[in-house]
Amino acid sequence: MEGWRDAEKRKDVSRGGRWAFLSAADGSFLRPVCMWRDVSQKLMNRNKLWAHLSVDPSPQQWIQHVKGFLQVYKLLFGFRIWVLGNGQLISTKLGKWAVVTGATDGIGKAYAEELARRGFNIALISRSQEKLDDVSGSLESKFNVETKTIAVDFGLLDIYPKIEAGLAGLEVGVLVNNVGISYTYPEFFLEIPDLDNFINTMINVNITSVCQMTRLVLPRMVERSRAWF
Ligand SMILES: NC(=O)c1ccc[n+]([C@@H]2O[C@H](COP(=O)([O-])OP(=O)(O)OC[C@H]3O[C@@H](n4cnc5c(N)ncnc54)[C@H](OP(=O)(O)O)[C@@H]3O)[C@@H](O)[C@H]2O)c1
Repeated sequence: MEGWRDAEKRKDVSRGGRWAFLSAADGSFLRPVCMWRDVSQKLMNRNKLWAHLSVDPSPQQWIQHVKGFLQVYKLLFGFRIWVLGNGQLISTKLGKWAVVTGATDGIGKAYAEELARRGFNIALISRSQEKLDDVSGSLESKFNVETKTIAVDFGLLDIYPKIEAGLAGLEVGVLVNNVGISYTYPEFFLEIPDLDNFINTMINVNITSVCQMTRLVLPRMVERSRAWF
């Protein structure tokens, strides 16, 4: 059988929980006591909620707030630079040259064009010399900048001395670690053809290239205390 408290709870829920006090006034001397207990619990929970909403934040809550603030700041900063196009931050004040990996197609090519538009000379790095020559010619004629091409396969590990030699003496202000590969078509991981080789190539192109390219250009950026990645 449904007890009076269950009935009250049901009514309370059906009324959105706001009128619990009014429903207490009909006779049983225990009822107001129990209702008071219910209501005081609710109030305590509400107080906890207010405390949680940082009327008096704990050190951990402060850390969370600061982290949240930094995330928002980073978002707005990225929006300002790449959407509104703040040319003063990404300018040749950072260094005369920009290096773009995977620069002959897609996103890499777009980066190369945008950086050339901002006045950077561009070092283009990809596999195909023919495509490199095309992009290099088009950047030089369109934006009146210098270019340099380095044809290497980032799937291999012995290419970095060649890149180092190609970049020697350039004042590099921006490095765009763009090159990357994925499966050529959607496939279950274990069914990718020649999986062992593919794993090695993917790691070399997507991960090793980022670390090695950064290792190559960073020391001189640190010396000048100017750079953008
Ligand atoms: N497109 C997207 O929707 C998307 C989404 C998320 C992330 N991304 C990432 O953004 C980056 C660029 O993507 P994308 O779509 O613009 O690529 P893309 O159009 O396929 O262009 C790839 C570029 O990298 C070069 N490249 C490919 N493999 C190479 C290798 N082993 N060694 C040297 N150069 C190589 C290619 O030139 P060659 O063929 O001459 O070597 C080409 O210039 C990649 O890291 C990708 O993972 C893309």
